[in-house]
Amino acid sequence: MRVLVLQASPNAHGSTAVLVDEFCRGAREAGHGVERVDVCRLNVAPCTGCVACGYEGPCVQHDDMDALREKILAADMLVLATPLYYYGMTAQLKTIIDRFCSANSSITRRRLRSALLTVAWNADDWTFEALAAHYHTLVRYLHWQDCGMVLGYGCGTPGMTKASRYPQEAYQLGRSV
Ligand SMILES: Cc1cc2nc3c(=O)[nH]c(=O)nc-3n(C[C@H](O)[C@H](O)[C@H](O)COP(=O)(O)O)c2cc1C
Repeated sequence: MRVLVLQASPNAHGSTAVLVDEFCRGAREAGHGVERVDVCRLNVAPCTGCVACGYEGPCVQHDDMDALREKILAADMLVLATPLYYYGMTAQLKTIIDRFCSANSSITRRRLRSALLTVAWNADDWTFEALAAHYHTLVRYLHWQDCGMVLGYGCGTPGMTKASRYPQEAYQLGRSV
């Protein structure tokens, strides 16, 4: 299986990356081809809502989304990896997802497997309610097959994250897909 991991923290070596590294290690050990893309390093402009694409067709904007769209359409599994920012995903990841617009049907037809890796400073039981609801709604709408989530409560720094059980959970999820 071709696994594409969208690492959407601006910190390439932060807590999100700790989970991404472990997930990738597990998935590679399970025999999958894994590619990690640090989406915050990409030049991807927000969707302008012009709908010139008609929700399936060439986007009028040409930037790094051209290549990323091809990678997504060639993948079997998409992993969304994001720190919690104001109880949602990072703006960079949301920007990428909004740009799915011009390949909406193609992405849906792929029936991709998917997973969510996320970290947050807070450890309250409601910390990930909004993000998990958004992720599950994307799964439903885009006909993804959810393989699971790692919700890193109390993962405010890479040190806190490494000391938690979540890297192991991410590794196990990678092994299991
Ligand atoms: C702009 C911003 C917004 C954040 N919002 C939240 C939040 O809503 N809830 C929370 O628990 N932590 C929040 N955090 C903390 C991060 O989710 C947390 O520190 C995480 O470990 C950062 O991951 P990273 O090292 O991959 O960047 C926020 C941090 C930043 C910079």
